[in-house]
Amino acid sequence: PETGCLSIVVLGASGDLAKKKTFPALFHLYRQGFLKPDEVHIFGYARTKISDEELRSRIHGYLTPCKGASTEHTEDVLKFLQLIKYVSGSYDTEEGFRSLDSAISEHEISKNSAGGSSRRLFYFALPPSVYPSVSKMIKNCCMNKSDRGGWTRIVVEKPFGKDLASAEELSSQIGELFDEPQIYRIDHYLGKELVQNMLVLRFANRFFLPLWNRDNIANVQIVFREDFGTEGRGGYFDEYGIIRDIMQNHLLQVLCLVAMEKPVSLKPEHIRDEKVKVLQSVVPIKDEEVVLGQYVGYTDDSTVPDNSSTPTFATVILRLHNERWEGVPFILKAGKALNSRKAEIRVQFKDVPGDIFRCQKQGRNEFVIRLQPPEAIYMKLTVKQPGLEMSTVQSELDLSYGQRYQGVVIPEAYERLILDTIRGDQQHFVRRDELKAAWEIFTPLLHRIEDGEFKLIPYKPGSRGPAEADELLERAGYVQTHGYIWIPPTL
Ligand code: BG6
Repeated sequence: PETGCLSIVVLGASGDLAKKKTFPALFHLYRQGFLKPDEVHIFGYARTKISDEELRSRIHGYLTPCKGASTEHTEDVLKFLQLIKYVSGSYDTEEGFRSLDSAISEHEISKNSAGGSSRRLFYFALPPSVYPSVSKMIKNCCMNKSDRGGWTRIVVEKPFGKDLASAEELSSQIGELFDEPQIYRIDHYLGKELVQNMLVLRFANRFFLPLWNRDNIANVQIVFREDFGTEGRGGYFDEYGIIRDIMQNHLLQVLCLVAMEKPVSLKPEHIRDEKVKVLQSVVPIKDEEVVLGQYVGYTDDSTVPDNSSTPTFATVILRLHNERWEGVPFILKAGKALNSRKAEIRVQFKDVPGDIFRCQKQGRNEFVIRLQPPEAIYMKLTVKQPGLEMSTVQSELDLSYGQRYQGVVIPEAYERLILDTIRGDQQHFVRRDELKAAWEIFTPLLHRIEDGEFKLIPYKPGSRGPAEADELLERAGYVQTHGYIWIPPTL
């Protein structure tokens, strides 16, 4: 691994994302020894004029202890906070960025007396409207100047634009300043344990190889449900809606991993090449394969206009035009304020041909990857009901992580991804052409929604969402299992 001075700059240091995700992830990396105090320094940058101490105390409360930690944790928190320095300045003038550069250089001089390269990581915990100006300021004032090697990288968060045109504009503005290997577009779903497991499951197991295609699979669902509403993020959310917030990025990325062909190798570019091909093979979405909803009470949020026509729920069927998947619906479903919180991939297999047990069966085979919570992989299958009678029952092969991997702490998505940015591994980040292809899929639909061409179905908070979505699922060929439900094992 590379050594030498590492400067991590969190831009937008006093914002929500930084406090809730970025700093805690950095803290966990620090605790596990991935950020070494003799190499690393963390800089917070934002407009507000506050002291180092003030920033540290704002972050403090979000650095939650690991299981079983007590005094040790408190000491670690204090040591970690000492690594953080705050610089204030605006996002569009050079002055602040020059002071940031001097602060970084000062740190590099003090740490680099023993030699080594210098690495500069800029994490944009910022609204995308300032991405172009901030990128320019970094390019003008803050690039790595060491003659002993190293790098400068930027990490950006969605929303990358609002549609194809705005995303492309943003991409070319940033692309003029930084090369693709310097740009890390985070989609935190790619940092989830079970999302990362898809590649292994699919390509390291003989089981799945012959089954993973249109001959055997009836339909695939990729589902995101939350049991709370917009919770104070109404202003942001209303501008984007559920399709841009969840579907165009998180669920589509998961779809790529479910549907892609085997990459030539595990090299990040080979994997990303295959993902792009999946996106490019998606055919235009049909109106009758879209159901949109908005939960009752959504507009009560003072930051949401009373007449908002932003969907908080969507079911959309995507169809891939390729040899493996022709005819198999990929049903994407995402909703806020529903009856449960979970994210899963549900692969439903076709009926058994000439099935001699047909009349007593409860349902089809399904392979379910529960991304959260709790993490699990299970396979629904029909077995003989134990006992004297020869009858069948639906059961499961269950790999529940909590039970199988007791005591193993599953890392937070952000933790893993930030470590990748430091190591220079872009596998779990969205490449520019992937982003473009993703926007190409949803842009026509989004524009038509904004033109009022779709009706929003109201649904009760805490419900399953609009009944029309279940009807669409049925029309797409999903067969619900009756009288069986998988119950996660309790420890
Ligand atoms: C974010 C969305 O990207 O993902 C949020 O903006 C959503 O609206 C969140 O709540 C869900 O992430 P997770 O990791 O809790 O599934």
